[in-house]
Amino acid sequence: ETTLGAAAAQSGRYFGTAIASGRLGDSAYTSIASREFNSVTAENEMKIDATEPQRGQFNFTAADRVYNWAVQNGKQVRGHTLAWHSQQPGWMQGLSGSNLRQAMIGHINGVMAHYKGKIRQWDVVNEAFEDGSSGARRDSNLQRTGNDWIEVAFRTARAADPAAKLCYNDYNVEDWNWAKTQAMYRMVRDFKQRGVPIDCVGFQSHFNNGSPYNSNFRTTLQSFAALGVDVAITELDIQGASPTTYAAVTNDCLAVPRCLGITVWGVRDSDSWRREHTPLLFNDNGSKKPAYTAVLNALNGG
Ligand code: G3I
Repeated sequence: ETTLGAAAAQSGRYFGTAIASGRLGDSAYTSIASREFNSVTAENEMKIDATEPQRGQFNFTAADRVYNWAVQNGKQVRGHTLAWHSQQPGWMQGLSGSNLRQAMIGHINGVMAHYKGKIRQWDVVNEAFEDGSSGARRDSNLQRTGNDWIEVAFRTARAADPAAKLCYNDYNVEDWNWAKTQAMYRMVRDFKQRGVPIDCVGFQSHFNNGSPYNSNFRTTLQSFAALGVDVAITELDIQGASPTTYAAVTNDCLAVPRCLGITVWGVRDSDSWRREHTPLLFNDNGSKKPAYTAVLNALNGG
């Protein structure tokens, strides 16, 4: 196959990208995105600040722009993200306790109702663990509502849209030896044991010189899959875009039957949140980089 999406589809997987609504008027951007990818994640438009700028007043203008572009171009959509400490609107930042807990539930219900039956996977909770060696939950206003906030979010999400796969998504959880990875593993194991509705784990995979790719990523994916959840690579970018590393990540997903697919976090380097790292598959001119060819070859089986 000659595109990433078609090549991934040979094994029943998808190959996606983050899409920014503000770039949909750029035909160089949309021509690459529509040609190469078959899954879309809104880079910012489905986040809490964008979708519920005032409490109880939902705004899906930008989110729908991305969603409609995706569907009109035949792509599936990953939802990102419903409960997160970051990119909260001002009104939510100031809440605490049961008031915040109710606001979180109301937000999940409001957004999932709008997209009911339309989103393949939702990142229900994003980035709830602390970096470093503690293995603790990250301190946040949501965490301070009680340690059960994550399972409440998942139970709410399951009721709101039973057709969506419900994912927990985080970064620096790719290396099996990291404390954060192990903490996330214990949470997912506990959720599966207690029947908390979780279907998938998203590994953001923002690899850089400080948090580099390690070949034990495959062990991580396999270990989570063995708990009975799907896994997905949800925000892939690699500082310097080493073709070898991109191929290794691709092969790690291909090696794990429950790895649903790969999403890269942007189209061209110039579209990246860390463009100075030139971490993506297309350069600023929209040309395919060596990493592109490495990924495509891996998806094509060699
Ligand atoms: O929309 C405003 C615009 O009106 C304003 O003029 C401009 C001035 O700086 O800012 C714009 O908002 C920015 C927004 O991206 C849209 O470009 C925010 O400042 C900026 O903080 C925001 O950054 C996003 C970041 O999440 C925020 O947390 C990045 O685009 C986005 O790629 C990044 O994505 C996250 C994932 O959601 C979760 N995992 C990590 C990943 C990378 O940080």
